[in-house]
Amino acid sequence: MDDPNGEVIKLEHIGASLRTINWRDVERLRNWKNSNMRFFFHQDYITDRGQLEWFHGYYNRTDDFVFIVMYRRRAIGCMGFRLKGCIDIYNVILGDKRFGGMGIMSEALQLMIKYILEQYYRINISAKVLLSNSKAIAWYTANGFSKHSYVNQGHVKGYVLMEQSKEV
Ligand SMILES: CC(C)(COP(=O)(O)OP(=O)(O)OC[C@H]1O[C@@H](n2cnc3c(N)ncnc32)[C@H](O)[C@@H]1OP(=O)(O)O)[C@@H](O)C(=O)NCCC(=O)NCCS
Repeated sequence: MDDPNGEVIKLEHIGASLRTINWRDVERLRNWKNSNMRFFFHQDYITDRGQLEWFHGYYNRTDDFVFIVMYRRRAIGCMGFRLKGCIDIYNVILGDKRFGGMGIMSEALQLMIKYILEQYYRINISAKVLLSNSKAIAWYTANGFSKHSYVNQGHVKGYVLMEQSKEV
């Protein structure tokens, strides 16, 4: 079992490449998520069991895609998107910090956006970024996103909704 519909999606580029996750990635994703939880809405520690439950749910959804970012045959991070009327980019993590600031995650994001626009013609692409995450806001901005609106609702932390300009 690999991903929704049993189809493995591979996006190749000279530097970064992307492939959809499979069950062998579950523990790696859990570790990356737990080490970066302060950057995300969900900030509770993810247990083995919780992660397996998430993966089973993910596997049965056909509108949710999580990719491993590969660089020189090494898994260095992840990113995903889900269809929620528009496209919500999520789960963006540079897992192996040794590969930070090299433009690999940017290249992977551009590759994923190109794929999204090929699959869902002219659909809006957005990402919700916590207001405290200034690095990610700058990173999305450098990658063609602009701030669309600020949301501050109840117990949920304030975030900025960023939208992509569609030209890749
Ligand atoms: C956001 C995140 C994925 C960015 O990862 P990164 O490795 O810094 O990403 P990139 O290398 O693509 O970022 C571009 C940086 O590389 C530099 N760079 C070097 N070569 C580059 C190239 N060929 N192309 C683009 N940028 C290049 C840029 O100058 C930029 O540097 P700067 O941050 O000093 O401005 C990473 O910081 C992360 O995992 N953060 C924690 C999780 C998180 O916040 N996720 C988002 C939640 S909404």
